[in-house]
Amino acid sequence: MTITLDTPPILIARRQPPQLEQVEALLASQVDGTRSPLEAALAQLIAAGGKRIRPRLVLLMGGLLAVDPAPLLYLAAAIEMLHTATLVHDDLVDGASLRRGVETLNARASAAASVLVGDFAFTRAARLVLATGSLSAVDMFTEAMATIVNGELTQIARPRGIANREEYFDWIGAKTAALFELSTGAPALLSQSGMEDASSARRFGYAIGMAFQIMDDVLDFTSDAAHLGKPSGQDLRQGILTLPALIYLEAHPDDPSLRLLINRQRLPEADLVQLVDSIRQGNSIQQAIEVAQGFVNDGLSALDQLPDGLERSELEKIARSVVDRHG
Ligand code: IPE
Ligand code: IPE
Ligand code: MG
Ligand code: MG
Repeated sequence: MTITLDTPPILIARRQPPQLEQVEALLASQVDGTRSPLEAALAQLIAAGGKRIRPRLVLLMGGLLAVDPAPLLYLAAAIEMLHTATLVHDDLVDGASLRRGVETLNARASAAASVLVGDFAFTRAARLVLATGSLSAVDMFTEAMATIVNGELTQIARPRGIANREEYFDWIGAKTAALFELSTGAPALLSQSGMEDASSARRFGYAIGMAFQIMDDVLDFTSDAAHLGKPSGQDLRQGILTLPALIYLEAHPDDPSLRLLINRQRLPEADLVQLVDSIRQGNSIQQAIEVAQGFVNDGLSALDQLPDGLERSELEKIARSVVDRHG
């Protein structure tokens, strides 16, 4: 079976590392904004950027494990495209209005439009991962997709909301860490690495993904739309308890507002504002950051098992920056 896609163009490095520029070009080449307004909306979301942390992880881990450049570029683009597709659907599920500083599709078009544009992005992601030519990479990719979707389905289907750390860790492990694990684990499949290195690479990504989602949940309490490019203060408003709220709950098990939210009941806006304030003022936020730091440390010990090199130091920097970010 041969899949032909345009060869990634060789671009001159500007602000980004050259390989990341090539990933950007590959992403842009998958979507033709002139074909329909909806495809144009997807092109706009891709062009709006984002932190690109997943393709950076792919490129650095691939570099460390001496993977050939061409399949690595396809893999990095495939994973970022998969991430983009999940964002389009996530914003519909969450009723979010802003993403990467741009009005979301669900805010400016119908739910049907978001579903279809997300689906279209999934097809582009599938095409890109096929272009790696590695069936094991395709397999890991589809497994990660299944984990993400199942995690979200489980969360929607449960009669009560998430009420403790174990349930929360299971949920974020599926919806976020699985994609980070793919970002660092799939490059190992494209390399000549042995089982041990492959397993360390996966463990690194998974741990960093856990820390990344915890910090996203912390920032939902502590930051604002101007820094995040997406609305903040939304998780509790939607009745979702994330780690800061769960830590607060451990100290205040009978808090009536949290109990109502866990039972999937609506909370008057004034009570919600009060609850967010109480969580912000206590030490739950700090404790959540410490839990994230713990995951970063786990990730760093997995990284230590991998060969030393320039890319390893860069991966270490990314890992440490996860708990320092503000937007
Ligand atoms: C948002 O991911 C979804 C989460 C897993 C928290 P990012 O924070 O990586 O979003 P972009 O790609 O930078 O916009
Ligand atoms: C990440 O969770 C969901 C995905 C897997 C796309 P969030 O719902 O917290 O992500 P944001 O805050 O909307 O980016
Ligand atoms: Mg969301
Ligand atoms: Mg969030």
